[in-house]
Amino acid sequence: MKITVLGTGYVGLVSGVCFAAIGHDVTCVDIDDSKISLLQGGEIPIYEPGLSELLAKINKSSINFTSNLSLALHECEVIFLAVGTPEGEDGVADLSFIFEAAKQIARSSTSYKLVVTKSTVPPGTNFKIRDLIRRENSNIEFDIASNPEFLREGCAISDFMEADRVVIGTENKRAEDVLKSIYTPILNGGRFGSGKAKFLATDIITAELIKYASNSFLAAKICFINEMADLCEIVGGNVNELSYAIGLDKRIGDKFLNPGPGFGGSCFPKDINAIVNFAKSNNCHLSIIESTLKSNDHRIKKMARRVLSKLDSLGGKKITFLGLAFKGGTDDVRCSPSIQIITVLLQLDNTIKIMASDVCAIEGAKIALRDLPVKFEADMYLACADADLIIIATEWEDYGKIDLLKLRESTKASTILDLRNVLNAKEVRSAGFVYKCIGIT
Ligand code: UDX
Repeated sequence: MKITVLGTGYVGLVSGVCFAAIGHDVTCVDIDDSKISLLQGGEIPIYEPGLSELLAKINKSSINFTSNLSLALHECEVIFLAVGTPEGEDGVADLSFIFEAAKQIARSSTSYKLVVTKSTVPPGTNFKIRDLIRRENSNIEFDIASNPEFLREGCAISDFMEADRVVIGTENKRAEDVLKSIYTPILNGGRFGSGKAKFLATDIITAELIKYASNSFLAAKICFINEMADLCEIVGGNVNELSYAIGLDKRIGDKFLNPGPGFGGSCFPKDINAIVNFAKSNNCHLSIIESTLKSNDHRIKKMARRVLSKLDSLGGKKITFLGLAFKGGTDDVRCSPSIQIITVLLQLDNTIKIMASDVCAIEGAKIALRDLPVKFEADMYLACADADLIIIATEWEDYGKIDLLKLRESTKASTILDLRNVLNAKEVRSAGFVYKCIGIT
């Protein structure tokens, strides 16, 4: 199938490369010429494990990159919209890139098109896309569909190839059949994945809502375990054991129950804000989802105060943050709890000296923290040398496997505050550190 993907961000690029890998003829389009020339040279402009290797394995004739949308639209039958839907005024999703793409599609298409929205959009947006295309070009033959993605940064390829489900929302059988044929290689398994993905065809509104419901529920699960961690700290419980125990209940499941400093990333905060405001505009009050945001925002300040309290007891002022990305496995610092905690800390006490390190997010963090007096060091041991307090703020595997004896030799810090519970308390203490973490006193 000839497929065009508009947008080569985390979602568009992974989807385009994976569509080509499973046998489709793909054209990826972006307005950013520099990104396109990188991609034409076989380079990946984002950090996504395995993506450049997968691109290199694909037959060059199966995927191409261009900034020329009308050329890209000329022969394709299916267009996936994977452009950004950033948070706009008062939390409502900004759909300007979506509608601009729809206008271009209307103006450039000369044959049947299936216009599939993969970007996360408020319910009803696909109908607005349909009406806009009709207004722009009453002669075009097309259908619309919703196909939300559930890709996590850092494991997006396996989330695509080993999807739990493929969700589509359509208005007719033709659109449904086209999408089913596109995803058949991963639905059947064999060369691509185990074929366990369920293909769920529903209506457009439900498909658009499924994405928001998914992300809101996952975010709420994270806030839940973080609040349980708070309670454990007060009454002397062990949140790691609590999390494991409740996760054994199949109705709860053991995923997304890792306590931490709060959730970040380019999706959860944006999507939760969008659905809460969308519901409000429909006189519906999503109190549980709204409280998720409040709980998460409050947690950042709580974590900053916890760091300060540790510093005060140490009488020192030098902190090393191990971890700047919003989670392990990515270079993305958008809404990173680590970045937010550093910012709040320096607002509370501007005499603190911060040294920051990350496995691959330092460049992004330098931009995010450009107005603050933060030093950076890529080597985690060097970064800790002069610290009074070491904070583990991102759940990189590298930090979970840090050589504690080497660290002991490398730093004067007496205390490690593990905001991700990635270290083993006994091992840390036997290496000669005071160890503090989340949800265990
Ligand atoms: C999320 C959704 O998981 C994905 O399905 C959707 O398509 C896009 O948004 P992503 O933002 O890449 O994916 O990150 P995710 O792995 O969900 O983690 C989000 C945040 O929650 C991170 O800050 C992470 O550190 C935190 N988290 C995650 C926890 O604190 N505890 C957990 O148990 C899991």
